[in-house]
Amino acid sequence: MRLLITGGAGFIGSNFIRYIINKYPDYKITNLDALTYAGNLENLKDFEDNPNYKFVKGDICDRDLVNNLVKDVDIIVHFAAESHVDRSILDSQAFVVTNVIGTQVLLDSAKEFGTRFHHVSTDEVFGSLGPDDPGFNEETPYDPRSPYSASKAASDHLVRAYYHTHNLPITISNCSNNYGPCMFPEKVIPLFITNLFENKKVPLYGDGMNIRDWIHVDDHNRGVDLIIHKGKIGETYCLGGNNELTNKDLTFKILQAVGRGEEMIEHVEDRAGHDKRYAIDFSKIKNELGWEPEISFEDGLKEMVKWYKDNYEWVKNCKSGEYKEYYKRQYNI
Ligand code: NAD
Ligand code: TYD
Repeated sequence: MRLLITGGAGFIGSNFIRYIINKYPDYKITNLDALTYAGNLENLKDFEDNPNYKFVKGDICDRDLVNNLVKDVDIIVHFAAESHVDRSILDSQAFVVTNVIGTQVLLDSAKEFGTRFHHVSTDEVFGSLGPDDPGFNEETPYDPRSPYSASKAASDHLVRAYYHTHNLPITISNCSNNYGPCMFPEKVIPLFITNLFENKKVPLYGDGMNIRDWIHVDDHNRGVDLIIHKGKIGETYCLGGNNELTNKDLTFKILQAVGRGEEMIEHVEDRAGHDKRYAIDFSKIKNELGWEPEISFEDGLKEMVKWYKDNYEWVKNCKSGEYKEYYKRQYNI
């Protein structure tokens, strides 16, 4: 199989490429990534000389480049996005350009060449749950509430529109919050781990009672693998970790894993429009494709802390330059 993977230098995309090369060594992979602040070729350094792996630096909004690549592949697996909610609150333009227009450019190209298209999306498109609501599923109405989730919702709608209007062979996955190695240290788990390494406090938003459902990136990617091989065309699949945690409980687990105490928590102003709770009912993919999450949060978090310790140069590079400015603007630290 020949795959065009977009955003393969980012967190989930680079873990996906690693997973696919290890599982299907004869598959041919092209990784199209613009190398924004979140893209890092270090994530895939060990595959640089692999004859079945090719990296192309470029923007998914570049029609000519995209057409040139899409004409030679069997499937597009679309990860590329602006992915951080806080950045979308500061400035949403890049979110609309990459997440909406970039997806539309890829869809046009897939239409032109009749290429199978898998769209990687988020549970945040469904909005925010109350404490007793059942988890999101494939029938939940869309209700995005941040500029990030609004741009992802728009892209999901476009993908479905190309299926209905143009018969494009698509699938979509909506997954809950991922964690694991190579995650850019602006998202809460790697931010907190690396702050603690640097003896800095961890900024907990609001009352810390917002809930997220955490899933290991390898469980997510195993789900995407199943969908691209066995998923039903035109269908959406929700993936979750069965692991709801308040941010407060999450913070305690991180503090424990790093060996620090509660005094490292800094309570800071809440995020604007902060979604209260995400949770996923993944019965559809469980019943139809036999998928469920396998990695326990305790094991995954321990492994993640070790990865960040062992790869501290990688962290330092992320935390320099533009990121430092962003951090200063956000928390005045
Ligand atoms: P990330 O920010 O770590 O990586 C995004 C990658 O896309 C980077 O390598 C970046 O360089 C690249 N990119 C950005 N704009 C581009 C453009 N215009 N052209 C080409 N490449 C571009 O993101 P992530 O956390 O790995 O998320 C990957 C996908 O998974 C996204 O679509 C996101 O919405 C979705 N998702 C993420 C999570 C999560 O918890 N991180 C959960 C569910 C779904
Ligand atoms: P984040 O990792 O940004 O993911 P998302 O907003 O996509 O769910 O945030 C996860 C949760 O952690 C979210 O409820 C906001 C909270 N949070 C903090 O409390 N402090 C922080 O510094 C960050 C980045 C997030």
